[in-house]
Amino acid sequence: MRNHRIVIIPGDNIGPELMEAAIDVLEAAQKGGGDFKINMETHQAGAAYYTEYGIPISPETVEACRSADSVLKGPVGDPAVRTPDGIEAGLLGGVLRSGLDLFANVRPIKLYPGVTSPLRGFEPGGIDYVVVRENTEGLYASRGKGVGGPNAMADTMIMTRPGVERIVRFAFELAQIREGAPSDGVSRVTCVEKSNVLRSFVFFRDIFLEIAKEYPAIEAETIYPDAAAQALVMNPGHYDVMVMENFLGDILSDLGGGTIGGLGMCPGGNIGDDYAYFEPVHGSAPDIAGQGTANPMSQILSAAMMLHHIGEVAASRRIEATVWKVLENGDIHFDERGRAVQGTKRVTEAIINRLGDS
Ligand code: IPM
Ligand code: MN
Repeated sequence: MRNHRIVIIPGDNIGPELMEAAIDVLEAAQKGGGDFKINMETHQAGAAYYTEYGIPISPETVEACRSADSVLKGPVGDPAVRTPDGIEAGLLGGVLRSGLDLFANVRPIKLYPGVTSPLRGFEPGGIDYVVVRENTEGLYASRGKGVGGPNAMADTMIMTRPGVERIVRFAFELAQIREGAPSDGVSRVTCVEKSNVLRSFVFFRDIFLEIAKEYPAIEAETIYPDAAAQALVMNPGHYDVMVMENFLGDILSDLGGGTIGGLGMCPGGNIGDDYAYFEPVHGSAPDIAGQGTANPMSQILSAAMMLHHIGEVAASRRIEATVWKVLENGDIHFDERGRAVQGTKRVTEAIINRLGDS
């Protein structure tokens, strides 16, 4: 029996509802044939925690994240809870992403069956790429450090050679184990960069092209972010793995989410050499909290990504295949805004009921 110790951070607003769904699915997955046991330990962190204790996460919880085998986190933050300088107070990116050096933010964008995409003419699986967002530098390295005064403000974008090299390598390694772009089956890494304007992006691009030579079997290309925003709407089937600076990845991963039924379908992983945590791409949606209509897919698919990361590949695939199946069969469906019209619980039950058959 393989034992895994997992830290659970339910998060704010819809976070706990989503987490309940993901935990139920994880428990069903380990019952159904998995030769493993997940020992979960719940920790509170985020905006509600900040309101109570004045910090978004305790040092003990950060330590628990380091010592655990992995971490499953719900959405945190609340636009109403801010620090005196106006920034959202309950966010954990600075502490966990930079603090644990989780340099790769991995965001799969995949069109599942039965999900309404605002784009016409795409079959299930016809959009299937991964945004690999650099997670520790770029523009957000300036998080909370902007300088200036009442008449001007500046935030600085930083790119370092080791930082760019490792994220680019991560993207090529990922492309090696994927099956290529849906439209032509070609394994491809696309670097998004604005080298026509900013020197930092010339630097990013040059390193990308240098590392690309180490992977001759994978097609390497570059695109400007403005063109990429158009291409991800007009020709998303062309993409396999995309690698980019932090701020660009933040924007384009949400754009991608918009093409596959919304962020409710978007899981994410924050991965470093020593630690990792998994979370939905979206925020904590205070407007629908407590209604039981939040789409738990992003959290459930994040749990599947986590299982894959800790080596429980079969169980991870089983969850993903089951999600595919319940959507294909029409067991569950979402409204045009991506909400689980039959309720969060019904989605979870449908997955658990079919988890045994796959
Ligand atoms: C995300 C979020 C965060 C980010 C915010 C809440 C700081 O938008 O995970 O994409 O920008 O990284
Ligand atoms: Mn974002």
